[in-house]
Amino acid sequence: MEYTKCWLEYPRIRSEEGRTLTLQNLAEGSVGQSAEKELALGLRGLYGIGLTEGGPEAAVTLKTDGALPDGGYVLHAAKGSVTVRGGGAGVLYGVFALLRHLQTAWCGWDELTLEEEKRPSNDLRLLNHWDNLEGDIERGYSGRSFFFRDNQILVGQRTVDYARMAASCGVNGVVLNNVNVRAAAVELISDRYYAPLRRIQEILAAYGIRMYLSVNFAAPISLGGLGTADPLDGSVQSWWREKADEIWRNLPGLGGFLVKADSEGQPGPHSYGRDQADGANMLADAIAPHGGRVIWRCFVYNCQQDWRDRVTDRARAGFDNFMPLDGKFRDNVTLQIKNGPMDFQVREPVSPLFGGLKHTNRILEVQIAQEYTGQQRHVCYLIPWFKEILETDLMCREGGSRVSSLIAGPNQGMAAVANTGDDPNWTGHDLAAANLYGFGRLSYDTSLTPEAIAREWLRQTYGRSPEVEETLLKILLSSWHTYEKYNAPLGIGWMVVPETHYGPSVDGYEYSRWGTYHRADRNGLGVDRTARGTGYCGQYAPALAAIYADLETCPEELVLFFHHLPYTYMLKSGVTVIQHIYDTHFEGASEAEAFLRMVEGLEGKLPEDVYRRMHARFVHQARHAREWCDVINSYFLRLSGIQDDKGRPIYA
Ligand code: GCU
Repeated sequence: MEYTKCWLEYPRIRSEEGRTLTLQNLAEGSVGQSAEKELALGLRGLYGIGLTEGGPEAAVTLKTDGALPDGGYVLHAAKGSVTVRGGGAGVLYGVFALLRHLQTAWCGWDELTLEEEKRPSNDLRLLNHWDNLEGDIERGYSGRSFFFRDNQILVGQRTVDYARMAASCGVNGVVLNNVNVRAAAVELISDRYYAPLRRIQEILAAYGIRMYLSVNFAAPISLGGLGTADPLDGSVQSWWREKADEIWRNLPGLGGFLVKADSEGQPGPHSYGRDQADGANMLADAIAPHGGRVIWRCFVYNCQQDWRDRVTDRARAGFDNFMPLDGKFRDNVTLQIKNGPMDFQVREPVSPLFGGLKHTNRILEVQIAQEYTGQQRHVCYLIPWFKEILETDLMCREGGSRVSSLIAGPNQGMAAVANTGDDPNWTGHDLAAANLYGFGRLSYDTSLTPEAIAREWLRQTYGRSPEVEETLLKILLSSWHTYEKYNAPLGIGWMVVPETHYGPSVDGYEYSRWGTYHRADRNGLGVDRTARGTGYCGQYAPALAAIYADLETCPEELVLFFHHLPYTYMLKSGVTVIQHIYDTHFEGASEAEAFLRMVEGLEGKLPEDVYRRMHARFVHQARHAREWCDVINSYFLRLSGIQDDKGRPIYA
């Protein structure tokens, strides 16, 4: 199938057809070869310039520099002469940076003057694909898998182009398969799949990317024929040890395993009365001799809750399950923690585990697959949200405790649930590619701003057209807030259609087993998570807990996450809770309509097929945002009996 190259299209800046530059490539290994290939591709596209081999006097020098950390690079450019030095994959990142700078400056090859030195902010920068072996993608909104189809592994040019895209924005690890490991996926760690997996692994490795696999904790039973998967059972331990030997013999350099255990029906150590550390450490010991890492997810909660039960609070679960185990995990275990305590809602507080854990490696897990944020049919540029998360100060230690610093350091970092599929534009919505690019860039360099990232992405994707750039930039930068406005209000979340998670259904999750309640009645809504309520607030460091618990200081956008409030409660913005609900929903819906008008102004200025695809999505978004607005407003008018003080149409 034909597909785009997203931000690697290299639109022509100016023609220098016929010109060749000399290159001295001293960069080591397959990554060094990729760096050269990428430079050649970029120069041909941007200028029509070719490359030929040269000596010490060459115009461009690429060089591996062991003094730099893996992924770090130094880039000098002046008067057409360029040097890129890098540690490990850094030389490749330096080449991509050079091409990016040429495009952001939109200048001729000889005109770029630059001195840049970068080191990755995060050690691990991972994409987690929720691709199933059958070819479907759990929470996938951009077609089918390009890794798997009908229980076969696909390897081809698309794999290479995927690796190029991932590396170009700094991603250095990829988990190929869904965390819910079922059916044939259990057999990924068997002879059935090693050969094609090895081919994917080599492609990724040439782009500085380590491959990881999700494994099923009960594999000793389903794959090994044992009667148990108890992590403290000797036969289970030796089964995993032998399995690890076999896996690394076939897939040398594999990064390790990602594990979803004791979560939403997946097996885990709890079934045997063991704790999460028992489970993770057993696997960690088995793969340690091979340099493997266990990435263990903290998404462990009771998904069989009774809505009548007002004591149990799902938000507490991650902390309650993992905090007592701090310091008990092996060095080659990293806990992967979702950004918020619930599940990728449009707004949540930062998980208290990031601040609580003191002796355990951590990864921040975000989701660029827009499960709850418009499913790549609505535009929702998530980088401003991720940036806010990174900048949140958890007040848990002297001298600064922003999330970005808590996840920095060896064996830590960021992971994103990926948003790609085999759609011709990779991400369904053309603008959703900005989330893929942006996640990589932000995880590599957490100091970047969402605007700088969006501008880079726009310039590389659509070339230089100020009107296109300014219009799409405006849409991107406001899109998350717009989406939030017509969604569930003030941090409460979950007013979506169950299972599909698309479209409004205020009570969809109110009487379910999932622990996701808004507690709206005729007087008010929200969940009291202070000491008077579920006590969740107390999981934060005392200074922050006090801020959330006090209505005077609780950030307003989260106020219903932490407090149950009457509709008549006056917010600091000067309107009541109910009026805030009406106002934001009307605003959100009209902003979505304004997006559509703005995009319509770009007809003829974007490539025809891009325009057509984008336009269709914005038409849908405008209509669907109106639906959200009307459903939510009508629900609350009917329940509260309080009229909109601006008298707008609500369907009472
Ligand atoms: C969400 C999502 C599931 C997914 C789960 C997870 O609940 O809806 O499809 O399996 O997250 O993160 O494991």
